[in-house]
Amino acid sequence: LAKIKFLKEVIFAKMRKIIYNNCMDKFYIETYGCQMNEADSEYMASVLLSVGYQASQSLDDADIILVNTCSIREKAETKVLSFLGRVLPYKKKNNAIIGVCGCVARKEGENLIKKAPYLDLVFGPHHISRLPDFINAVRIDNRKVVEVTDRNEIERKSQLVVPNSLRAMVPIMQGCNNFCSFCIVPFVRGREISRKSEDIIAEIKHLVSKGVKEIMLLGQNVNSYGNDLKVGNGFVRLLEQVNSVEGLERIRFTTSHPKDLTDELIAAFGNLSKLCPHIHLPVQSGSDKILALMNRKYDSRTYLTLIDKLRKVCPDIAITTDIIVGFPSEEEADFQATIELVRKVEYDGAFSFKYSARPKTKAANMPNQVPEEIKQKRLEELQALQKEITYKKNRALEGKVLPVLVESTNRRNNVEFSGRTPCFRILNFSVANPTSDLIGKILNVRVSRGLKNSLKGEVV
Ligand code: 5AD
Ligand code: SF4
Repeated sequence: LAKIKFLKEVIFAKMRKIIYNNCMDKFYIETYGCQMNEADSEYMASVLLSVGYQASQSLDDADIILVNTCSIREKAETKVLSFLGRVLPYKKKNNAIIGVCGCVARKEGENLIKKAPYLDLVFGPHHISRLPDFINAVRIDNRKVVEVTDRNEIERKSQLVVPNSLRAMVPIMQGCNNFCSFCIVPFVRGREISRKSEDIIAEIKHLVSKGVKEIMLLGQNVNSYGNDLKVGNGFVRLLEQVNSVEGLERIRFTTSHPKDLTDELIAAFGNLSKLCPHIHLPVQSGSDKILALMNRKYDSRTYLTLIDKLRKVCPDIAITTDIIVGFPSEEEADFQATIELVRKVEYDGAFSFKYSARPKTKAANMPNQVPEEIKQKRLEELQALQKEITYKKNRALEGKVLPVLVESTNRRNNVEFSGRTPCFRILNFSVANPTSDLIGKILNVRVSRGLKNSLKGEVV
């Protein structure tokens, strides 16, 4: 009996392989949310490409439509539902498979199929590798698939098909243990699990061998990488290993939690030649009362000390942040403390959000929720201030020569190229004798103008 069972498995596996390898189906992936989601979408694409599916840039000719979702703010979740409304005609026209994955899938599960009965597939971020099997179950067994359980292991394997890009995102861990009182992430992505450093380095070497020059290491809180593997200062050790990968030019990472930003990690900005001078260090609020309610485990003074230390080690470091306005109990004085902190730090850029109550989180049940009009007014005041600061900082770079990793050319006018500075600003520049093999090179470019959201310059 066991032999028959085994043979049956082998035959089925072979048949599945034949089906994958002959499949000409095209897939389209719509991504909402953070960089973790973007990385998951890249990984999904690589899983599908590796078994023979083809990527499509439009919904029109897609046989498989996947929406990779984010549930961190209510607005992101609403966007997903409206996208699902938009894809219904394609279900009818192309008999397309429609799937939802990511955090909303993990959070809503079966409920999503109740809301949109034409959905075929709902799966959480822990099950991406099984996507081809899910698609087969829909196509061949003619059934709906819902798989949103958590798994206590990293599900990602090395990317089999590398995206055609100079920059690649490499998740180094999944989940989060911090339970900031506003945040849904620990509930939808589970607890922190670090990938083994050997797997990460092997993946990076593979990416570099395919032409990738810049790696973005990703995690909800990369500073605590390796804590679960019982490796002391695991993240710095990992950075050192990545720094020695031959052929790799630049390393970035995101996101960092201020409470876990060690002196050793700060020192890495001075020691590691490939580590770009940019840190995304979410502050969330400038008010100590609000920071305590948020369960952030630092106060504004400690945060400002970190900024001083970073600037001492690396004077040109770009610092960006996330800020929430209108957290429960935030009064005008608390908000003004945030404004004051933003003026003091002078961030190179900031993402700011109106607080949105998320299910299961502590803050959702806190008293003194802030009215929508006040949140909106505060958001506008904060964004106007940050806009001024970003513009001022961009102008301050005029005359400076910065190394730019050339990423693309302006198609209408091929004397113009575009790339990123080490501090992650976009620099558009002209070249006297342009050739397309400039893409992927690092060129020294003098900044001629600092604009509101980018820089302009000329190659020196
Ligand atoms: N409401 C508003 N913003 C939020 N963020 C996370 N949860 C919420 C929420 N409930 C923001 C934080 C975080 C960023 C990724 O999203 O600023 O750093
Ligand atoms: Fe959410 Fe806080 Fe974890 Fe960031 S550190 S993912 S804000 S719980």
